[in-house]
Amino acid sequence: MLLFREKPPAYSLAKILANLPAELVDHAHLERKAATTALNLEKYRDLFPRVEELNAIAIEELQHFQLVLALLKRRGIPFGQPYPSPWISGLMKSVRNGQRHQVIDHLICCSLIEGRSCEKFQVLARELKAVDRELADFYASLVESEGNHYATYLLMAKGIDEAETNRRLDFYLALDAELIRQPNPLPMLH
Ligand SMILES: [Fe+2]
Ligand SMILES: [Fe+2]
Repeated sequence: MLLFREKPPAYSLAKILANLPAELVDHAHLERKAATTALNLEKYRDLFPRVEELNAIAIEELQHFQLVLALLKRRGIPFGQPYPSPWISGLMKSVRNGQRHQVIDHLICCSLIEGRSCEKFQVLARELKAVDRELADFYASLVESEGNHYATYLLMAKGIDEAETNRRLDFYLALDAELIRQPNPLPMLH
């Protein structure tokens, strides 16, 4: 159950569909960053007991990364430079300092990134069905995993401090809704 308050603008889907090779390179980086993020979360004291779960997420993201790289190879698309995402950096800029505050904010940001990926992969799976069956099936196959990551990160934050997580989630959902309306002409997922 995704909690977002604003849909991604229609143009963002059109832009992705018109630039699939660039979008796939961006997606590869997204999976790479998701793997390193899961490992980075292991630095927080509150998450020491969840280290195996975080490793499992990192491994899964690395497998996704490998799958996207294989897709790139099959299609003759070279792996290239990542685009910086104004949406992701906009969320991350609001992560507060201080162990407890920082881990909760960081987990909420990760949860929203996973949730938006889950949402967008669902849309891509649907929209690509008629034009690119292989890619449509690929995106459909990732939806459940990213949805689980979304829920896991949110539950990890709630496990640390539920009231504070709910309060910050409200703030971050408002920020996400504001940031997602900002125009971004690049063919990237986020
Ligand atoms: Fe992933
Ligand atoms: Fe994920």
